[in-house]
Amino acid sequence: MLEKRIRFKPLMEKITDPDTACQHIQDGTNVFISGFTAGYPKLIPLALARRADAGERFKINLFAGASTGDILDGTLAEAGVIRWRRPYMSNRSMRNMINANEIYFKDDHLSKLSAQVRSGEWGDVHVAVVEAVAITEKGHLVPTMSVGNTPTYVREAKKIIIELSDDLPELEGIHDIFIPEDPPYRMPIPIYRAGDRIGKPFIEMDPDRVVAIVSSHERDTAATFTEPGEVSLRIAEQILDFVAHEIKHDHLPASLPWQSGVGDVANAVLSGFLDNDFFNIIEVYSEVLQDAVLDLIDMGKVRSASGSAMTLSQSYRNRFFNELYRYREKIILRPVEISNSPEVIRRLGVIAINTAIEADIYGQVNSTHLMGSQMMNGIGGSGDFIRSGAISFVVTPSTAKGGKISSVVPMVSHVDHSEHSVNVVVTEYGLVDTRNLTPRQVAEAIIKKCAHPDYRDLLWDYYQRAVHTSGGHEPHLLGEAFSFHERFMATGDMRPSP
Ligand code: COA
Repeated sequence: MLEKRIRFKPLMEKITDPDTACQHIQDGTNVFISGFTAGYPKLIPLALARRADAGERFKINLFAGASTGDILDGTLAEAGVIRWRRPYMSNRSMRNMINANEIYFKDDHLSKLSAQVRSGEWGDVHVAVVEAVAITEKGHLVPTMSVGNTPTYVREAKKIIIELSDDLPELEGIHDIFIPEDPPYRMPIPIYRAGDRIGKPFIEMDPDRVVAIVSSHERDTAATFTEPGEVSLRIAEQILDFVAHEIKHDHLPASLPWQSGVGDVANAVLSGFLDNDFFNIIEVYSEVLQDAVLDLIDMGKVRSASGSAMTLSQSYRNRFFNELYRYREKIILRPVEISNSPEVIRRLGVIAINTAIEADIYGQVNSTHLMGSQMMNGIGGSGDFIRSGAISFVVTPSTAKGGKISSVVPMVSHVDHSEHSVNVVVTEYGLVDTRNLTPRQVAEAIIKKCAHPDYRDLLWDYYQRAVHTSGGHEPHLLGEAFSFHERFMATGDMRPSP
């Protein structure tokens, strides 16, 4: 199988085993890996963990595209070999170590990273470790289920280690690889419709820098999506009704592409198109493509779907692999600096939908930090899309932890997205379009429409006292702004005890 996949024959002599390959990684090595929810290396991380288990003491700096599987982030975090990790992660062990300051982490907008790496801001790219399905006749790389920052990592790397999958189907034709010039020489990125292909179907690579190739039949951990619950369905329904209303009244063009963030609500929004007669055909210009996109393609409802990665559950992945010939026509995977490019998002007029941890009464949004301090996953691409979308929805269930936490609070405990970027706030109770409201009107509407009934009086009381005590354009009681969070931390419930 490897013979078939390594079409540039001189590289056959680089085939080795993971334990030998990972000797190129030593204490202090900057390791830049493929992976963006999917498409991450699996064998090299396991080999590194074996070295740590055997008593070798070393630390690496690990840079990816976004989150990876537990086999990578979990294994290496638990092995204690990571000093720095950037960007976005979602592994529980790694998260705990980041919050304990045992792993250094810096949260970045994903659209900017590749250019930062090319500029040298992140240090030398000592080793790139990338998963691929094939090496072309000219020695270039065909990636797997994600692109992320891999094209830049491969271009900049001094050494390249490839995990060559020998049982994923050949995914050639799905990817569209384009690296823009850096300022001051950057030209417009020539994407005018979500489905435009502007690059090459492979990542350009200098084969002389390949130091090892290992054969892999490991697969990404499959995503798990639950059937959309009542809350997600209600949120999705309101968004679709709102956009349909805006289109009918000529406030939005009918053909804007959609971006939908990660997780169940995002999946539910896209699933909502399935039995919606108003939206006959849509375009998707998003970051991660999830299960619902395949259903929509099967129903003939997608003109094209562009993202940087595909995260599919097991059965959907089987379907995708078995019927690749059909999906290849519709799906495009791009570098994240293109999928999340503010320039392209703004030009296309993307309708952006992203999930928040909490929103405040004035529409500021926290996507990343629990109770203001504990990192959850990271900002990911939410800032890229919320700031640049033609209209940006921020969605959240009205409560968390069985009602003990209100997702609508007087003031968010951490700010990722400001009121100037967030347009529409949605919970299962209601939707508030903030675009033409004053901050006071926003607060009144969010409290009445979006907050859970258990918290409305509390929020209203806070707001009224703020209006009468401090007044101003955006009234706040600074000594009380975090009282909901403080109460939760003291009692385990944001509601005062009766
Ligand atoms: N305060 C404290 N904890 C909260 C909370 C709040 N206001 N809201 C949710 N939580 C907790 C939940 O209880 C849950 O805890 P658990 O893991 O212990 O069960 C956890 O946070 C995750 O909540 P959940 O409802 O399962 O969230 P999700 O899977 O829908 O993810 C985000 C929500 C915000 C964490 C996730 O969307 C994210 O990381 N977003 C930022 C990046 C992004 O938007 N990327 C897409 C751009 S293309």
